[in-house]
Amino acid sequence: MNRPRATNYPYGAGSCLARNARKCSTSMAQQIHHQSDERAPEDSTARASSIRWKILRRALLRRHTDNESQLGIDRISRRASSDGFKLIPFQVVEPGARNWDNPDSSSTTEMPHSVKDAVVCYKLPIDGSPKLFLKQRLENQEDLHDFEICNQYNIDNTGLVCLWPSEEVLSYYCLSNAEIFRSKRVIELGSGYGLAGLVIAAATEASEIVITDGNPQVVDYIQHNIQVNSGAFGSTKVNSMLLHWKEMQGSCTPDTFDIIIASDCTFFKEFHADLAWTVKLLLKEAGPSEALFFSPKRGDSLDKFLEEASKHDLKCSIVENYDATVWNRHQDLLAGDGSWSNYLMDHCYPLLVRIMK
Ligand SMILES: C[S@@+](CC[C@H](N)C(=O)[O-])C[C@H]1O[C@@H](n2cnc3c(N)ncnc32)[C@H](O)[C@@H]1O
Repeated sequence: MNRPRATNYPYGAGSCLARNARKCSTSMAQQIHHQSDERAPEDSTARASSIRWKILRRALLRRHTDNESQLGIDRISRRASSDGFKLIPFQVVEPGARNWDNPDSSSTTEMPHSVKDAVVCYKLPIDGSPKLFLKQRLENQEDLHDFEICNQYNIDNTGLVCLWPSEEVLSYYCLSNAEIFRSKRVIELGSGYGLAGLVIAAATEASEIVITDGNPQVVDYIQHNIQVNSGAFGSTKVNSMLLHWKEMQGSCTPDTFDIIIASDCTFFKEFHADLAWTVKLLLKEAGPSEALFFSPKRGDSLDKFLEEASKHDLKCSIVENYDATVWNRHQDLLAGDGSWSNYLMDHCYPLLVRIMK
């Protein structure tokens, strides 16, 4: 019997900007090398121009070898030193692997479109929940085209870098609180690969979920991931959308959503006002509606966003301990359980920010 060829990673979503900066000998590359990319994006380094420089730098420094694509499957975009919060088990499935559930079936796991990508299978930890297959970028695969797109659309590349730990926590929260989405219209902002939106589609009875991002390349991944998993969605309507917070003022879909979700989207200070405006515009006026943001504090960036939100007459409250499992995992990590060596509450633990009109 042919078993699926899979690299087994026991738990879900780790994260981070590519961390293996390579030394190089050319003067231009040395100049660019001075810009550190060792840390997750944070308030002081999150300016779009700086992030674009990092993308360009990596593209210039990267060596392309056949070996690299062979080894790529071991470098799916997530923090090598971390299994994240260990909430959602996953496997990286090699291209061409046979169907995970039915290894004898003639169908094979969808091939990624390029050697830059891999397919990750997330096993939602609830009886009866389907598995979700997400196409994601391998680590360190940024190129000049990414840089051009970022420049053209005034956006960063963080949605392609990895599935961030906050998205894992948001997904888990949506799964654990499925009832709040029943018959609701939901939109995810700055979704990246969109795991949380797909969890809502597959494991709740939401009437609709729109999974959005401001980076068109990211939206291509979202659209692909929606198509691949569409058999799991039941009656929930699922769509992707290119939605840049700066362009919401002219949007034709205001005042229509019961619930907005977002993870790790508050560190871009230059977009705080646009993000607050977007939330205000999208939240339904009549009836209860709210946004659920999962955001690490990241220095003063979350506080600055909250200030901006209050300027837009949005009412925000912060919940630190919103789920016993996530909280216990956080406590273990703080105590230094060794599985996430650079775990810092300020940068890694997502607070739940509830935002209402
Ligand atoms: C840190 S990533 C988080 C992605 C995903 N939520 C996760 O946690 O894995 C931030 C996301 O916000 C998107 N983004 C950044 N600025 C944006 C803007 N002005 N409008 C819309 N999306 C934006 C990026 O493209 C990226 O996908």
